[in-house]
Amino acid sequence: MNASDGAGVKLKRSIGTPEADYIDPFLMLDEFGSENKDDYIGGFPPHPHRGIETVTYMLNGEFEHEDSTGAKGRMSSGDVQWMKTGGGIIHSEMPEQESGLLKGFQLWVNLPKKHKMTTPHYQEFAADKITVEKRSDGGEIRVISGSTNNNATGAVVNNYVKPTYLHVTLPANASFEQNIAKADNTFIYMISGHLCIGDSTEKLDKNQLGILTEGTSVKVVTNTATSFLLVSAMPLNEPLARSGPFVMNSKAEIIQAYSDLQNNRF
Ligand code: CO
Repeated sequence: MNASDGAGVKLKRSIGTPEADYIDPFLMLDEFGSENKDDYIGGFPPHPHRGIETVTYMLNGEFEHEDSTGAKGRMSSGDVQWMKTGGGIIHSEMPEQESGLLKGFQLWVNLPKKHKMTTPHYQEFAADKITVEKRSDGGEIRVISGSTNNNATGAVVNNYVKPTYLHVTLPANASFEQNIAKADNTFIYMISGHLCIGDSTEKLDKNQLGILTEGTSVKVVTNTATSFLLVSAMPLNEPLARSGPFVMNSKAEIIQAYSDLQNNRF
């Protein structure tokens, strides 16, 4: 699904759509960016959030972010920002470049009911601080959070939902396996190339989302060079009430969020 958000940033939304509304606890997955500056130059001007964690992973380009707690920073290719919005934050994310390729991902992870109103918190990691597992076939696994089967562990510390978030790059004719918990919800998002999951002969292509059925491991095989995100976590199984940037458990809490925003309580 092609969409536009912020002040007009071109993006492909694959979770948070009519076809894949909520893969508990994952609320949204956007691939943003373009080689054309007109598709991103507007950025994401100041906007609020409540009740979630947002995970930004830059593949190419430069972003500058700033928020209502006074935090400010810059993200470059390969960097990760894991932000717990908690009870409320107002932030902006603007491109720091006027030409060239800008590309990245934003994933929204829901927060459990009892932690939604906690204090905002950031974790930021430069590309060289991201764990990389080198494979003998020349491929690599960038571990944003969680662990690989060989115990390469990501730098992000998660105290609430504890997703496994891997960026896997494989050569042609490779196979890859990742253990997951049986209760987890798991998806694969294709960045480039194509692959088959398990014994299936059905191909998953670029920009496609594959939602996996219940199991204790994910196996994929490639016949071309392929890059994808593999993300997995235990569902929260809590009531969901959401409106734009606010994700709570009841309609009354959403109304409260708008009222708090209007009354400068963020
Ligand atoms: Co935001």
